[in-house]
Amino acid sequence: MCGIVGYLGKNRNALDTIISGLEALEYRGYDSAGIAYVYKNQIQIKKKAGRISNLKEILNFSETPFIGIGHTRWATHGEPNETNAHPHHSGKFTIVHNGIIENYIDLKNMLEKKGVSFSSETDTEVACALLNDIYKTEKDILKTLVKAQDLLIGSYAFGILCEDDLNTIYAMRKSSPLIVATKDNDKFIASDVPAILSFTNEYYLLDDFDIAILKEDTLSFYHPKKEFFQKEKLLFEGSKESSQKDGYEHFMLKEIHEQPKVIKDTIHFYFDGTKESLFANLPDLEKYQDIHIVACGSAYHTGLVAKSLIEELADIPVTCEIASEYRYKKVFYHSNTLVIVISQSGETADTLASLRKAKEDSIDTLAIVNVIGSSIAREADKVLYIKAGCEIAVATTKAYSAQVALLSLLALKLAIIHKNISEEEFTMIAKQIEELPALLEKLINQEKYLNIAKKIYTRDDIFYLGRKLDYAISMEGALKLKEISYINSVSYPAGELKHGTISLVENSTPVIGILTDNTMREKTISNLKETAARGAYIVAISNEEIKEVDELILIPTVHPLFQPLLAIIPLQLIAYEIAKLRGCDIDKPRNLAKSVTVE
Ligand code: G6P
Repeated sequence: MCGIVGYLGKNRNALDTIISGLEALEYRGYDSAGIAYVYKNQIQIKKKAGRISNLKEILNFSETPFIGIGHTRWATHGEPNETNAHPHHSGKFTIVHNGIIENYIDLKNMLEKKGVSFSSETDTEVACALLNDIYKTEKDILKTLVKAQDLLIGSYAFGILCEDDLNTIYAMRKSSPLIVATKDNDKFIASDVPAILSFTNEYYLLDDFDIAILKEDTLSFYHPKKEFFQKEKLLFEGSKESSQKDGYEHFMLKEIHEQPKVIKDTIHFYFDGTKESLFANLPDLEKYQDIHIVACGSAYHTGLVAKSLIEELADIPVTCEIASEYRYKKVFYHSNTLVIVISQSGETADTLASLRKAKEDSIDTLAIVNVIGSSIAREADKVLYIKAGCEIAVATTKAYSAQVALLSLLALKLAIIHKNISEEEFTMIAKQIEELPALLEKLINQEKYLNIAKKIYTRDDIFYLGRKLDYAISMEGALKLKEISYINSVSYPAGELKHGTISLVENSTPVIGILTDNTMREKTISNLKETAARGAYIVAISNEEIKEVDELILIPTVHPLFQPLLAIIPLQLIAYEIAKLRGCDIDKPRNLAKSVTVE
């Protein structure tokens, strides 16, 4: 959420370098963009509402500054206009910010009483004015930053320039990610690794209250409790290619096509076909009798899939909660509760807060994360990484599937522990895992999805129905569609629609049914017929023939552990084709950001 990039060095043009870094981070927000750089011994600020491309139009790339900080915004305080765009400036300071300063109104009142005036509605301008105010007494930038840490409540990653030290970038963070990198004496700051991958894959990850000081010849780290200290350098192990479109029209389409490989890689990292590998590579789960799964958005939907699988296969009760609720609600832990948090980015503020809540109560925690070294990965007692690689499209596809694949392995291990899987069934599961990538490939490469999309893309409402595991899958299908096409799509447990929402069904209303659970198929078919009787246009995704529907997408029958991995493919591709027909910005849907680091 919000992307920050800073550059200092003699080998490159700061404008080019910062803009290319921001473009790699645009998935973090794209409401406005701005840059501050030193030119002719002065800090110049350029900003524009909208995409980074708008900002590029007003930059003079023949100016060759050696130092600057840039920002791409996902608006929190104040509408996404030019005034509210970052960088913000006050007195001698210019800053870019990711996060939320929660006490900004109190600070603003305090500063206004001292005669400071503000031009934007942002919390960031207040933080900038606070730095300037402290600096008037401290007269030292580092001391100013340390003192500001005591006064700022909330979350922040800052890139900072000060008029009195035009050769230095300062950076500091609390609860919002920020990395620092150096290559051939060039120095970088960034919210996330993709911004620096064209230059280096080595980086330093700032911890809360760390302050980085980037100068031409030195890079130093300071922490109020440790003073100056050495930081460990980290290596990004993913590839840069994953942030290119590779000929696909959209990142989302590319990432959908990557799913067979990503699922294979994730499963094979933990499972080689033997029970021993599950016991060696996945955490000990024997003692847990009660599991809480906590996540947001699509990650929450993978939690619902896992809940269904674990309860059915391992006979263990699972509570699956949305993190923004869980963090504030009364939660009942037992001595043998395991809390599993799921997050692609590993930075989602509500999920991180839920993790901390469990840890404060001394409950064991396990994180399922994509981004290596992210806050959630570092703070959980145990972490399991999915092998999805860098996901760029804001609407997740391959990370969702990789999470489901890994959660299926956890469900399998729990089923083995609780002696609910026979040898025969295990052998069949191990065999099916090897067949999965080919089945997925075949399902992805069908033309049917576009034909179905053409029939329904003009509709205002689309309903998704399923029961049990199929309902969990349908929730992700509905979210995918509404995220990228802006169609009001809602998922319902198939039996519940008639208790109110069926009043919205009229002639030609599309209803998409998911029917992969043999025990529920007839029940769901009856519910689909109820909507057909009111004129609905029925699309069914099923692993068995169904006659009574307008469109049938037949998917292969596999063990329930893997059925969601197959069923989600048509749902992703129908959503993609509909959004394309509607001319939507598929990779960067309006109002969204991929990594949500504010609550
Ligand atoms: C945002 C994204 C969603 C994502 C959710 C959780 O809202 O737009 O696609 O599912 O955050 O993100 P996480 O990184 O925790 O999986």
